Amino acid sequence: MLDIDSLYRRSVLATADAPWVKRFLERNGWRLGVGRFVAGRDVTEAVPKLQAIQAAGKRVILDVLGEFVTTEAAARVTSERILASIEVVREADVEPYFSVKPTQIGLGVAPQLALELASGIARRLAEVGGRLCLDMENSPQVDGTLELLTRLRADGHEHVGTVLQSYLHRTPADLERLLALSPAPSLRIVKGAYKEPAEIALQSKADVDAAFERLVKRGLEAGAYVAIATHDKRLLERLLAFISGAGLTHERYGVQMLYGVSPGLQDRLTAAAEPLRVYVPFGDDWYGYYSRRLAERPANLMFVLRGLFG
Ligand code: FDA
Repeated sequence: MLDIDSLYRRSVLATADAPWVKRFLERNGWRLGVGRFVAGRDVTEAVPKLQAIQAAGKRVILDVLGEFVTTEAAARVTSERILASIEVVREADVEPYFSVKPTQIGLGVAPQLALELASGIARRLAEVGGRLCLDMENSPQVDGTLELLTRLRADGHEHVGTVLQSYLHRTPADLERLLALSPAPSLRIVKGAYKEPAEIALQSKADVDAAFERLVKRGLEAGAYVAIATHDKRLLERLLAFISGAGLTHERYGVQMLYGVSPGLQDRLTAAAEPLRVYVPFGDDWYGYYSRRLAERPANLMFVLRGLFG
């Protein structure tokens, strides 16, 4: 059943698709608070923020913003931008742990293109001791993303992992397939940020939360590395209690949160010596990412509206 949280989220995501809303926000975004969630217009602008996060005892995940490119040329430009960012962050002593959206490197253009570009990025990250996570996008991309992961791992890229979304009905079966790989890839469990219909995804927060908890526990019990990626304090507390009860060390789990979201909770976890990574996006293609953050919390939209009319 659709609850009020899901209704709000779906309405904002649908509104964000309207071309005039997109045009308006793209023109005025930085004035209206994009900088709360996006660390800079490019990697150079993001570097001081990345360094500050590391200096505060947290680790980082870097996201060169971009998604759903429709041409091979655009995918290649994005891949070059990611490769250049790897060099910049290394120079700045920032850990090269990157998240990439498969459609930003051409999954929607041709799977072979995405494989070629992801392989190049994975190779460079392996050379510099970095890691790669394939973000999970909307449901039509899931098969392609899991296939991409499987191909990369078959080529020896064991430092590549991916994301599973607890709202998808298919995810428990996908998790079992990934756990059967040897060794199992490192997994980030999230609730899911896209607008999906009831045939494909759970619609109520309670169901999505319960599925999240089951997936994390199953992944941990099966021996995989699991990153718990949520700002949901109660859910996190339950899972950290489970982890502590099972005596699992930091080699087996981590917590991940988004730049600019729940900073107080991020600080408290770090003070409690929990292993926290902050997902830090940067770049000029911020619209899709930003609209998903607005859709997650009414207060974020109010902030934008206050900027407009306040
Ligand atoms: P929930 O939405 O229930 O929120 C719990 C509480 O967290 C809220 O009450 C509020 O306090 C706080 N909160 C949550 N979102 C907020 C926001 N935008 N602004 C302010 N406060 C907020 N999704 C996906 O589909 N594919 C992916 O690859 C990823 N990758 C990813 C990486 C990392 C590190 C994280 C943390 C999240 C993702 N996500 C994602 C996004 C994820 O699916 C989900 O949309 C968000 O994390 C929000 O859900 P929560 O789990 O935080 O819970």
